[in-house]
Amino acid sequence: MEKRNLAPMIYKMVFKAPEIAAKARAGQFAILRIDDGGERIPLTIADVNSFSESITMVFQITGLTTEKLSVLEAGEYIKDAVGPLGKPSRVENFGTVACVGGGVGIAAVYPIAKALEKADNQVISLLGARSEGHLIFREELQRISSEFYAATEDGSFGSKGFITDPLKELLGKRKIDRIVTVGPGIMMKAVAEVSRPFGIPTVASLNPIMVDGTGMCGACRVTVGQEIKFACVDGPEFDAHEVKWDEFLTRLNAFKEEERLAMDAYHKEKCVNC
Ligand SMILES: Cc1cc2nc3c(=O)[nH]c(=O)nc-3n(C[C@H](O)[C@H](O)[C@H](O)COP(=O)(O)OP(=O)(O)OC[C@H]3O[C@@H](n4cnc5c(N)ncnc54)[C@H](O)[C@@H]3O)c2cc1C
Ligand code: FES
Repeated sequence: MEKRNLAPMIYKMVFKAPEIAAKARAGQFAILRIDDGGERIPLTIADVNSFSESITMVFQITGLTTEKLSVLEAGEYIKDAVGPLGKPSRVENFGTVACVGGGVGIAAVYPIAKALEKADNQVISLLGARSEGHLIFREELQRISSEFYAATEDGSFGSKGFITDPLKELLGKRKIDRIVTVGPGIMMKAVAEVSRPFGIPTVASLNPIMVDGTGMCGACRVTVGQEIKFACVDGPEFDAHEVKWDEFLTRLNAFKEEERLAMDAYHKEKCVNC
């Protein structure tokens, strides 16, 4: 495993995983287990190198398992990984596609944008982050994009505020055939609201809580239109105009207290041993 710190609390790790690297396609993810008895966490496959038979994952420390992952060093191993999981992103020649990434989701939008560009689409990248230092994969996305926009909350790069503002402006003056968005749920919901009046097909890659990742446990269920879908097998991409966003956002926070307790117990144990 190789490791790089990309931004505050955001790490890139490259894992040798020949079976996953051989089959992974844009938009898919893998589920990792760091240690014996550890939680299984889904992470998007941000890149594949078929020569080194490796996959790249980019993650943000949000709790116990991502923190445990972040302290591993190059050359170390994780317990296991299963993948590629989920349906690949729909890639065909749509015309002009706006790829909207936010926070760590920028790394997840990158493989989709790359595949769309390869399929002869004109890719317009729109990235949102807290500050310039959080704008990961900027050069990679600039390289494959015909146009590039960024917004930071503190105004340190691009326009000040949220990326939905430049998106709204763009939709008002250009014909966009499709929008793909990956990022915090609240951002994807806002992207859906901005694009709805324009009637532009918009897909969002959802990140609900997952357990098995194979459609058995129901943890990742989301309501899309009138139907219940399992994001791990029916997604993770769905029509953003049909997702019941408020329910999705509520379910995402369902285990906050348990997550906090797990983190506290881990830090306490570390402190006893230190
Ligand atoms: C298909 C998919 C792709 C993802 N890709 C990425 C990625 O590329 N990079 C990245 O940083 N994050 C990604 N995530 C989110 C990532 O899985 C969670 O941040 C991680 O599981 C948090 O675990 P934790 O123990 O560190 O934090 P916890 O303290 O357990 O949780 C913090 C928050 O993370 C989310 N979360 C917790 N457990 C899970 C779980 N089992 N499945 C999904 N979300 C969970 C919840 O919103 C929770 O409130 C993805 C999620 C999904 C479903
Ligand atoms: S994670 Fe269990 S059904 Fe999707």
